[in-house]
Amino acid sequence: MKRTKIIDAIKHYEEIGLGTPISVKGWVRTKRGNNAVAFIALNDGSIVHNLQIVADLSKFDEELMKKITTGACLHVTGPLVESQGKGQVVEVQAETIEIYGTADPESYPLQKKGHSVEFLREIGHLRPRTNFFGCVLRLRHAMAFAIHQYFNNKGYFYLNTPLITGSDAEGAGEMFSVTTLDLNNVPKTPEGKVDYSKDFFGKSVSLTVSGQLEGELGALALGGIYTFGPTFRAENSNTPRHLAEFWMIEPEVAFNDIHDNMDLAEDFIKSLVRYALENNMDDLQFLNDMFDKELIERMKFVVENDFIRLGYTEAIDILLKADKKFEFPVKWGIDLQSEHERYLVENYFKKPVILTDYPKEIKAFYMKMNEDGKTVRAMDVLFPKIGEIIGGSEREEDYEKLKQRVAELHIPEKDVWWYLETRKFGSAPHSGFGLGFERLLLFVTGMSNIRDVIPFPRTPQNAEF
Ligand code: 4AD
Ligand code: MG
Repeated sequence: MKRTKIIDAIKHYEEIGLGTPISVKGWVRTKRGNNAVAFIALNDGSIVHNLQIVADLSKFDEELMKKITTGACLHVTGPLVESQGKGQVVEVQAETIEIYGTADPESYPLQKKGHSVEFLREIGHLRPRTNFFGCVLRLRHAMAFAIHQYFNNKGYFYLNTPLITGSDAEGAGEMFSVTTLDLNNVPKTPEGKVDYSKDFFGKSVSLTVSGQLEGELGALALGGIYTFGPTFRAENSNTPRHLAEFWMIEPEVAFNDIHDNMDLAEDFIKSLVRYALENNMDDLQFLNDMFDKELIERMKFVVENDFIRLGYTEAIDILLKADKKFEFPVKWGIDLQSEHERYLVENYFKKPVILTDYPKEIKAFYMKMNEDGKTVRAMDVLFPKIGEIIGGSEREEDYEKLKQRVAELHIPEKDVWWYLETRKFGSAPHSGFGLGFERLLLFVTGMSNIRDVIPFPRTPQNAEF
């Protein structure tokens, strides 16, 4: 008999037909019952809900039934029938039960319910089998799918940019080196420096912090592209919003100015949140009930309301007038901290905010300079509970101006000569941004720690699973 997924048994029982024998496979969430009958809640990961299996104990060997404990993996066959009990519409009357794998109740870490998310992080190899993490993983998949669908519908092309690169796009010096040199016996130049000419690529390379620079090469040929891949940052910030390995989506669009860029960012993020509301309600409802009572409401609010658009200078004025004591003092020129961003979004405007025109000193070299010579056409999208969810800009398309910024910031021209050449040959106005995939997932799952929205988190001192 072909396997039926539990999602189909629960949602499409009418098409299957009540009374039809089915075959289901999955993991035991709970087993309860009495002397005559056992009720087994089976979950196969296709949906947050369990399928109830009813086993008449007179039909099954006692030894077999004893081995059916939380975490065990089963294959059950029997008719799908209307449930006699409350809490579910259908159930399976077991005719055969095969145990694929037992889970010793003494040592199975998920034997009991209600573990903290912190504890579950320590058992990252089993965490996917919990309800909450199942919801997170299904939502993660749904968002990835929705992202590709969104850009495909708009005619943007998916561009794969390299993970190993020689350029520090963000200029923050937070890169992980990639080398095959023997670290115990490093070849040296006559000046005593590491001789990277002996390394695998004949030069010093690192894991990318962003696919943007290469993305721009694509945009200036195909018109509109997006990247969607892992990025790596060796920033030693142990916060609930930073990972050393995270995924980023970076659209880059020729002929878009900063206003088009803001429109795209707002429409993009709203359409993703809408997609989740329309397609993932089972998971959202579970997370809403168990973790964050305002999750669904907050998501609807974002879809239904316009984002505030505001200049950095005005934002600083608002923060200076705020009757709130910030840990990091406010003055024009500072890089906004999460507490500042969240004040603007959660206390002052009570809406997502797009901040633009930041001081050039705190932003990357590639951003287009404003006429004032002090600020650049940057934009950050700030979200409730999260702070910065998107960072982007209009790009400097003027060859001389860009070359000057590269020199001012002491970026070795040998690392970015190819990037500069795009401004030499057929330069065009263009803009783009980066959405942190896990920051988006924080928003659509209501989780408060970024370690709980990625299957295998990488953070300082932590790369176990
Ligand atoms: O603001 P960032 O650094 O921008 C860039 O990398 C640009 N090259 C993007 C572009 O214009 N194409 O990063 C973009 C987003 C942030 O807004 C944030 O959501 C996320 O990436 N992000 C992180 N997410 C998790 N962990 C970290 N350490 C992150 N650093 C940035
Ligand atoms: Mg940023």
